[in-house]
Amino acid sequence: MAFETIIVEVEDHVALIRLNRPDALNALNTQLLGELCTALEEADGNDKVRCIVITGSDKAFAAGADIREMSEKTYVEVYSENLFAAANDRVSAIRKPIIAAVAGYALGGGCELAMLCDFIIAADTAKFGQPEINLGVIAGIGGTQRLTRLVGKSKSMDLNLTGRFMDAEEAERAGLVSRVVPAKKLVEEALSAAQKIAEKSMISAFAVKEAVNRSYETTLSEGLLFERRVFHSMFATEDQKEGMAAFLEKRAAQFRDK
Ligand code: HXC
Repeated sequence: MAFETIIVEVEDHVALIRLNRPDALNALNTQLLGELCTALEEADGNDKVRCIVITGSDKAFAAGADIREMSEKTYVEVYSENLFAAANDRVSAIRKPIIAAVAGYALGGGCELAMLCDFIIAADTAKFGQPEINLGVIAGIGGTQRLTRLVGKSKSMDLNLTGRFMDAEEAERAGLVSRVVPAKKLVEEALSAAQKIAEKSMISAFAVKEAVNRSYETTLSEGLLFERRVFHSMFATEDQKEGMAAFLEKRAAQFRDK
């Protein structure tokens, strides 16, 4: 499908999706969110794709939901259309791993989109924040929920109440991002992480996503039981036999997603 607000490239089993509304710092309007969700679903259904990277520009991953588009909406309108619910649900439903590669601003909905991904690699130029309070609203797609689980109550309250921005170093210290890399190397590092993931068994990658995400939804004992049962179930796969045989035979595993 042809897109206008994103650019999609598939190479070496990785789909690279670039948000591309440079005039609005990649603000997330209806068209961009729709195209992004469609591209993610296409990548999820494409056998050639084993991992997905979402990135923006040097200046902005995304500076938030599109304020121009939202500003005149009424309560009845946003409630009726259930604003941003579909984006949250459609991105959450993607089964293949998604890496957010963030340079520049990741604010409001931009920070929330990054948190909807499975992990975040940040350029040293990245700035994260939930400045919705400055607009007379609050975060609407995880900024008070996912962010709190990721960085704890104190820092989440600080960011959501003051609207200040957090740099990449602070974001790494706080546990929001998995690693910080020089801005020039951001996409290269994210693609290299994605290619490493693409070499694994897709069954194991799906299972990792399900198990880690389950930890946010349940108690420790239920989560451990879920993990153990999924771990047990992996012994029904050919990839488990291949992975362990390859280790013992001192060779690289050839996973077949079976
Ligand atoms: C619409 C936006 C935008 C946004 C920037 N632009 N952010 N348009 N929605 N969220 C547009 C500007 O209007 C401007 O367009 C152009 O992008 C460049 O932005 P500038 O402000 O001129 O750039 P700069 O001075 O470098 O400042 C960068 C900035 C600032 C600090 C990131 O743009 C900013 O504060 N943006 C808003 C950040 C924000 O409040 N985000 C939360 C949005 S609410 P023109 O046409 O004037 O050149 C939200 C709700 C989430 O996300 C709910 C669930 C998704």
